[in-house]
Amino acid sequence: MLLPRRLCSLVGGFLLLFLCFFYVLDHYDYQYDSHLAVVGPEYPTRESPQDRPWPRSLAHTRPILNDTSWATAHLENNDTAFSEYRKSMPCKKKYWRCNSSVPTDPEPPPEVLQELEAFGGSDPSSSPMLDAPLWTQYADRGYTVIGRNETAARRLPHVLIIGAKKSGTRALLAFLRVHPSIRASGPEVHYFDRFYSRGLSWYRSKLPLSLEGQLTVEKTPAYFTTPGVPARVKMDLPSCRLLLVVRDPVTRALSDYTQSLSKHRARRPFEEMAFVKSSPGLVNSEWGPISGGLYARHLQRWLDHFPRSSIHVVSGENLIKDPAVELCRVQEFLGLRRVITEKHFFFNVTKGFPCLVKREKSGRPHCLGSSKGRSHPEVSRETYNILRDFYRPFNYKFYKMIGQNFRW
Ligand code: A3P
Repeated sequence: MLLPRRLCSLVGGFLLLFLCFFYVLDHYDYQYDSHLAVVGPEYPTRESPQDRPWPRSLAHTRPILNDTSWATAHLENNDTAFSEYRKSMPCKKKYWRCNSSVPTDPEPPPEVLQELEAFGGSDPSSSPMLDAPLWTQYADRGYTVIGRNETAARRLPHVLIIGAKKSGTRALLAFLRVHPSIRASGPEVHYFDRFYSRGLSWYRSKLPLSLEGQLTVEKTPAYFTTPGVPARVKMDLPSCRLLLVVRDPVTRALSDYTQSLSKHRARRPFEEMAFVKSSPGLVNSEWGPISGGLYARHLQRWLDHFPRSSIHVVSGENLIKDPAVELCRVQEFLGLRRVITEKHFFFNVTKGFPCLVKREKSGRPHCLGSSKGRSHPEVSRETYNILRDFYRPFNYKFYKMIGQNFRW
């Protein structure tokens, strides 16, 4: 009688220990969840990329450490930065909550404020805010509502990824497609900028079949910068939600130029195109790769037609560093159940970018193609600094408009 009782308490003790062990493991994972943790210059101190441009040539050599070693390395090197970073890690798998307290813009320095005044434009705080979510009729809260009446149809978009070009729009679309409540067109449709005269039935024919309860998403980054598009979108899709991916405009300009090179549209060196010929050092703000990064200017056109609350801004940098967090916020914005989490991503060291563990259709690992994640041409430090100074007032204006500071 004594023996079985002892045995029982021994087994019970082991069981308790076992449970504690798993609890600690789980907790640890929650605290340091960073399967995409990459030891790279952009991570530990969270310095702005202006101080240390993206070392593209190192992309292949950046090691991925597991959670523990990454945490340890950073705790040793930069305790405060690490705990700050950890605090800012939203969308914990345990609590399913996105950190909606995105950093707001501190007042820009006085000299920049002066430049802002000179730049003009309306006060973004006067942009009308929505009282209630626009589209509870589509929202998929808590469970996946698909196909209540099982009729597949080609529906006009509920969501548009409007830009910005070369900021990670394809990655965002590819990641969103994993969600069962999302249906998205593959190629860019260019309806509102190029083919508007073809009419809505043409547009509809280019969109995928979807079931009731699914959201149709279309992505054409040229929408963001094309004047006249916001008014058209407002007219045809008045309650549409808009996703805007943005990235450091200097890097974006280089990425845009690299794409032009690959299509043989640009033949002259970047510096020759980026500056006005007659006055070296004067930035050519009319040149596409430069003007595409004047986010404040383009966004103002959208805010003339859409309330701020129907536009969600995605950080292109964070989409690379921590796609799960950005996707968490996007799903929240779209009123979707948080299906896409960190489990859906892995970091491909060869590619130097996060990829999907499973593509939505094939179920196989999927990285974006070779046209995404190209090496950019080197530019001199001087060029870099001139461009940075050029963009600064526009960036501040943009931060003010969206209430979010990207620290570019
Ligand atoms: P680069 O090719 O200059 O690096 P878009 O899809 O809007 O054209 O943006 C392309 C950019 O998306 C790429 O620019 C790359 O930096 C960025 N990007 C973000 N996430 C990515 C991912 N998971 N895989 C590849 N590129 C990604």
